[in-house]
Amino acid sequence: MARNMRLRHDIIKAIRRFLEDTEDFIEVETPILTRSTPEGARDFILPSRVNEGEWFALPQSPQLFKQILMVAGMDRYYQIARCFRDEDLRADRQPEFTQLDMEMSFMDEEEILALNERLLAHIFKTVKGIDIPTPFPRLTYAEAMARYGSDKPDTRYGLELVDVSDIVQDSGFKVFSGAVKSGGQVKVLPIPGGNDAISNVRIKPKGDLFKVATDAGAGGVAYIRVREGGEIDTIGAIKDNLTPEQKQTLLARTGAQPGHLLLFGAGDTATVNATLDKLRQAIAKELNLIDQRKTNLLWITEFPMFEWNADENRYEALHHPFTAPNPEDVADLTTARAVAYDIVYNGYEIGGGSLRIYQPDVQAKVFETIGLTDEEASDKFGFLLEAFEYGTPPHGGIAYGLDRLVMLLAGEHSIREAIAFPKTQQARDLLTNAPSSVDVQQLKDLQVASTVKPKVAPK
Ligand code: AMO
Repeated sequence: MARNMRLRHDIIKAIRRFLEDTEDFIEVETPILTRSTPEGARDFILPSRVNEGEWFALPQSPQLFKQILMVAGMDRYYQIARCFRDEDLRADRQPEFTQLDMEMSFMDEEEILALNERLLAHIFKTVKGIDIPTPFPRLTYAEAMARYGSDKPDTRYGLELVDVSDIVQDSGFKVFSGAVKSGGQVKVLPIPGGNDAISNVRIKPKGDLFKVATDAGAGGVAYIRVREGGEIDTIGAIKDNLTPEQKQTLLARTGAQPGHLLLFGAGDTATVNATLDKLRQAIAKELNLIDQRKTNLLWITEFPMFEWNADENRYEALHHPFTAPNPEDVADLTTARAVAYDIVYNGYEIGGGSLRIYQPDVQAKVFETIGLTDEEASDKFGFLLEAFEYGTPPHGGIAYGLDRLVMLLAGEHSIREAIAFPKTQQARDLLTNAPSSVDVQQLKDLQVASTVKPKVAPK
């Protein structure tokens, strides 16, 4: 842990040296007691004693403040910023975490990406002595989803997915043809040597890989084993419904050789991608396909502007509602690509950002698309929209999950190893035993009453 804390310190030092001494950035601190910010997670809220019945929210990011700083002429801002998100925890998430937050005026996407490549190259060189070649490879969101089923693919190994929807769309095997007819996809994860490595028991009900697939939402896993001479071994329902031509095209398209195991995902595109992504990761690990010496940094670009929220029956911003649409796509914003980018390091999303909207008419259209009325927009973000009336420079930015970066550079698998005094998966601080109950008087002062009976009676 002490080693990791030193590494964390060295990383932050390298960031400060580079941004301040080489690139002319200044650090500005932004408030912790603030109001809800638009990152989409649940807020931590705090009652105000002096403003009865009103609440602060802790910032999910400094997003709105940093955009106002651009209007104010702080052309190159950064901050080592504490952020708070009340979301379900995973190995790479904490409720309280630290971002390296940056915002720049008068820079286009290429300039922002190039500056960040220089920054990352500097960090890796300084703390690890590793030379990272620039420019970093890039994949569009659409390409990443097609080839890896994920917008944060680990590219240290192959195992790329292959779309075979067109080959099986008329198949008598209804699982395949039905998926394509209802607008979904059939994709294959081809596994060289998979025949020997992976038994049928593991992909059938009760098997561990079956569980990986069903946990990701799939109904099951169809498979084909490729034998000598291009013979195939699979369930009758698949074998009997493939014409010799279809079989040939399938084998050629997936690059299948004798010994290959082909795992199929069939269904709606999102579930197929999620399933094959999880299987791809599990199998790469098991077959030792991951070269641990590799440092693969990758940009994912051209994210969609919006995704459909079926529960609320409306579009919502995939990144946040200040992200600029691709100028080529403004005619129909619902299908527009955003000028948004994520940076992925060995399969982890370590950062993300975008160019921002700086024209009021485009901003109005985006609010309209996500179903935000003028009143709601002005209630939530009025202070930002008003600031924009004073002349907004074109601007954009990015934020890194600093704890994640430290975790990965330290070779750890849990973000808790990168944070002094971290919280557990249950969002508890076991050291100080927080959260805890408080004096009844404290609640009275705040005009707050709890409907939950405390487990431990307050002293
Ligand atoms: P975003 O929400 O993508 O973007 O967050 C940026 C990065 O922060 C890290 N991160 C987390 N790390 C640990 N625990 C968490 N709960 C957690 N949530 C996010 C991730 C992520 O890539 N305002 C925008 C940035 C911008 O547009 O400039 C933002 O916050 O590594």
